[in-house]
Amino acid sequence: MAAPRPKHKTRTVILLACILAAMLTLVGFSVPLYRLFCAATGYNGTTQRVADDAGAVSPRVVTVQFSTSIAPDLPWRFEPVKRSVQVHLGEEKLVYFSATNLSDTPIVGHATFNVTPAKVGLYFDKIQCFCFSDERLAPGKTVLMPVDFFVDPALDKDPNAKDVGTITLSYTFFRADKPDDIQNLSRFDPNAPPDPIRGARLFADRCSGCHTLDHAKIGPPLGTVFDRAAGSVAGYPYSAALKKAKLTWTVANLDHWLADPEALVPGNKMPIKVLEPNTRRDIVAYLEHLRADRTATASGSTADNR
Ligand code: HEC
Repeated sequence: MAAPRPKHKTRTVILLACILAAMLTLVGFSVPLYRLFCAATGYNGTTQRVADDAGAVSPRVVTVQFSTSIAPDLPWRFEPVKRSVQVHLGEEKLVYFSATNLSDTPIVGHATFNVTPAKVGLYFDKIQCFCFSDERLAPGKTVLMPVDFFVDPALDKDPNAKDVGTITLSYTFFRADKPDDIQNLSRFDPNAPPDPIRGARLFADRCSGCHTLDHAKIGPPLGTVFDRAAGSVAGYPYSAALKKAKLTWTVANLDHWLADPEALVPGNKMPIKVLEPNTRRDIVAYLEHLRADRTATASGSTADNR
């Protein structure tokens, strides 16, 4: 009767080894780990994580409510800025949660989340959020943490979910037991300096589905976009609108473009927006940083005299 056990154990070990190998490979390619984590956990009341929102917006509206709680041993205040929002299926929405460390020592917290009714977890897509990693909060400090999400229009096609009018997203913050690999919450601070390294990760996450640095994919290559005229990569089939937009890409208009491409260049064909300002700031810093690299290479200078 004990016979099946070793086999079972071997299988578990093999599975763990595979997961570890997959993680190491992904780390090698600098794909954020949390993405893998969420890809692996996105079902049954947990949520999906996606790289972009190139889906259609449906007329159906649902209410998304937010609920928050904190573990008893965590001296934080944590609440949604808005208790609920109404969204069309497929519409990207940005909401904020506020967390304050009420104690006089820095504390690392870790959030878990849940979606109810459980049957809609599958359709609740979070593009960006704070819940995939540990967060350090300085004493007395308050941060606003963004969650950028949409509800998949496929919800409308699920006969089981016809009656769903309200979706509740709940977060619970716990004290982290192993606070290594902490991300400082200053990345949510609008006054923090731009972080091109974080930008590179965000680029992999949010842009690389359509863009590479050096060749056309769904979108044009972006390695040399900074200081380049809009719509000017030879051979790429731009929209007429972008081709004749008289723009040279700078920090300011790249930020504007990412916030709302349609507002900057009406009639263009880039289908996504980046709603969260600090995400845009860091992605743009990364694109600008690529220009700095390029200048250094072109003028034959070395890394030290930059
Ligand atoms: C779903 C696909 C898709 C995603 C994701 C996407 N883009 Fe684009 N992007 C496009 C397309 C298509 C165009 C060409 C638009 C046109 O011709 O009107 C474009 C054009 C651009 C341009 C103009 C380039 C030029 O040569 O003038 C910039 C800048 C840009 N994208 C930046 C980004 C950044 C940064 C991200 C990540 C936050 C991103 N895009 C994510 C599809 C995408």
